[in-house]
Amino acid sequence: MENIWNAILNLKEAIAAFNSPIHTFWINRATGAVFINEVPTDLSNLLLIHCERDTTTPSIDIPTFLLTAAGNITLYNRKGLTEKEVLFFKKYLPYCFLSLKAKRLKRAITITHFAQTLDAKIATNTGDSKWIGNSENLIHAHRMRALCDGVLIGSRTVEADNPKLNVRHVNGKNPVRIVLGNPNSDFKSLLTCSNEKIFVFGKEKLRVSAPLESIVLPTMCPKYGIKPLAILEKLFQFGIHSVYIEGGAKTTSNFVNSKAVDILQLHIAPMIFGSGKASITLPNIERVKEAISFQEYNFLPFGDSMMFTGFL
Ligand SMILES: NC(=O)c1ccc[n+]([C@@H]2O[C@H](COP(=O)([O-])OP(=O)(O)OC[C@H]3O[C@@H](n4cnc5c(N)ncnc54)[C@H](OP(=O)(O)O)[C@@H]3O)[C@@H](O)[C@H]2O)c1
Repeated sequence: MENIWNAILNLKEAIAAFNSPIHTFWINRATGAVFINEVPTDLSNLLLIHCERDTTTPSIDIPTFLLTAAGNITLYNRKGLTEKEVLFFKKYLPYCFLSLKAKRLKRAITITHFAQTLDAKIATNTGDSKWIGNSENLIHAHRMRALCDGVLIGSRTVEADNPKLNVRHVNGKNPVRIVLGNPNSDFKSLLTCSNEKIFVFGKEKLRVSAPLESIVLPTMCPKYGIKPLAILEKLFQFGIHSVYIEGGAKTTSNFVNSKAVDILQLHIAPMIFGSGKASITLPNIERVKEAISFQEYNFLPFGDSMMFTGFL
C-alpha cells in the first residue's frame, strides 16, 4: 500500500501546483507518477480519476474513480483493484483536491476529526481521551496530517494532551501547526518535535519567538472567540490550503457553528462513557429538519471501529 500512498501524496502536490481547469487525473500505482489532463502512453498500473461534472464518461477500461461535486470519490470501474485498494483510495483520494476548492473560495478548506464513543464523548470528565480511537485511527490521523497543509487545535487540547502534531507513522511532510487561544502551559512538545512554523491565533499578541508566531485577529464575541472564517482566510494568505482540525470540542463546535467545516470525520469507537465531554455542542434546535445534514457521506471500516465521513 506504500506505493499507492506515495502516489496519493504526489497527486496532492501536483494538483496544488496546477493552475488551469482540471478534468482528469492519472496516477501510476507502481511508480507514483502523476498526469493531469493528458493521457499517458503506457496504461499499465494506471488509475484514472475523472471529474463527475464532465459529462463524457471515461471509455478506457482501467480502474476509475469519479470526483463528485461534493468533493467525494466514488468507484466507477474496479478493474483489477483489490477490495483493500478500493477502500484505501476512497479514504484518501478526496483530500488530494482540496486546493482546487481553496483557490475558488480564497480560504483554507477544513476537515475536522474526532475519535468519539457511541454516545458522542471525546474525553472523560477528567479530560482523559487516550485512547478512544484504535491504532488504525492513529495511523489515519498521521496520513491526514501529511495530506493537509496545516493542523489546528484549541489551547485546552495543547494543555490536556501535549500533542506533537507531526507526521511519524507514515511517509509525508509535517504540516504547519496552528493553535487557537493561549494555553496556560508552554508549547513544549510542539516545539521539540519539528521546526515547522506554529501559528498561535489569539486575542492578544504573545511575546514568542520562531518557530512560534503570534497572530491577533478581531473576536466575534467573548464566547466564540475569533471568527473561524477569518482564521481560514488568513491561513490561505499564508499559502495554507487545507487544515486538519483535531479538536477539542470547543474549537470544533465554533467551526461547525460558523459553517467553517467542509468535511467531518468521526471515528466511532465501540464504547460508551455515559458521562464526559461531548464532541460537538451547538445552539438548541427545535425540529429535526433544522439538523445539519450532508451533501454526501459514507461509513468506512477502521479495524474494530468505523469512520463516518460527511461532506458539508
Ligand atoms: N477524542 C478526540 O478526538 C479528542 C481530540 C481533541 C481533544 N480531545 C479532548 O478534548 C479536551 C479539550 O477540549 P476543549 O473543548 O476543552 O478545548 P479546546 O477546544 O481544545 O480549546 C478551547 C480553547 O481554544 C481556544 N479557542 C477555540 N476556538 C477559538 C476561536 N474561534 N478563537 C480564539 N480562541 C479559540 C480558546 O482558548 P483561550 O481560552 O485560551 O482563549 C478556548 O478556550 C481535552 O480533554 C482533550 O483530551 C479529544
